[in-house]
Amino acid sequence: MSTTLPSEPEIIEAVMNTVAYTATEVRQGLIGRRGTVDAENPSGETQLEADVWADRLLRERLSNVDGVAEYASEESDRILECGDSAGLSVATDPLDGSSNLQSNNTMGTIVGVYDEPLPARGTRLVAAAYVLYGPIVTMMIATDEGVSEYELGGGERSLIEDDVTLPDEPVVYGVGGRAQHWPAAIVDYVREIETELKLRYGGAMIGDVNQVMTYGGLFAYPTLEPHPEGKLRLQFEGNPIGYILEQAGGASSNGHRSLLEVEPTELHQRTPVYIGNEEYIERLEAALAD
Ligand code: AHG
Ligand code: MN
Ligand code: MN
Repeated sequence: MSTTLPSEPEIIEAVMNTVAYTATEVRQGLIGRRGTVDAENPSGETQLEADVWADRLLRERLSNVDGVAEYASEESDRILECGDSAGLSVATDPLDGSSNLQSNNTMGTIVGVYDEPLPARGTRLVAAAYVLYGPIVTMMIATDEGVSEYELGGGERSLIEDDVTLPDEPVVYGVGGRAQHWPAAIVDYVREIETELKLRYGGAMIGDVNQVMTYGGLFAYPTLEPHPEGKLRLQFEGNPIGYILEQAGGASSNGHRSLLEVEPTELHQRTPVYIGNEEYIERLEAALAD
């Protein structure tokens, strides 16, 4: 007997509820999990106990959501087939900015919901979200209807803003990596924007992106001389964040085109990431085109 799949909005709602209540446990579980494990993620980075913990919780929960066909995360090189192949594919960065755990700074969880098997182009996203573990745990959720912000507490999600849009007057900027590794065009671009905006860089993409979502401006983890593809991963970081910014009226780029248009070649491919107000993304693409 064929079981019919829930509708796409029902699957998305179930995924977001699962991430919301799991986030409370992820945050609790950070205590006592600040050490490293003797393993690397597929990007060759040493894993923290907290990375493995967050991934295990999300994998168990999300792979059991009715209508989720695949689960993949930056912490594992294999895609978990977990349901009717006609379902949706979920990609997570279970703990973004986990190196901030040592310094007790903000971190996040990122999730992308694609309607095609992974790796998929960002245009195949039907929803994306991030949880920010700040003084208050908040969650930003984007669908084709727009962007909403919630406060999380005790596993519950309470709406605080149901139509989040990027402020028209940009205020902050943050650029990752080491300045000595930035190409000359990025050095010149940063020199220009630092006379217009104020520096807000915390070292966890989600904390820095949420500053831009709140105040307007630019976040970049650029191409670097020794790493032309930058550091961030397209499926788990670039696409979901690019989708959220574009749904909020902002823009995203890999330096040449929207992140959502970047051709997916493999699950853990890296990409330069630039997001923020359209005028700053246009100026950046022009600077890199010269
Ligand atoms: P993750 O912890 O998921 O690997 O992500 C870390 C990323 C991102 O959060 C942040 O923007 C960037 O690494 C910071 O990199 P640097 O440590 O090179 O500044
Ligand atoms: Mn990350
Ligand atoms: Mn991570």
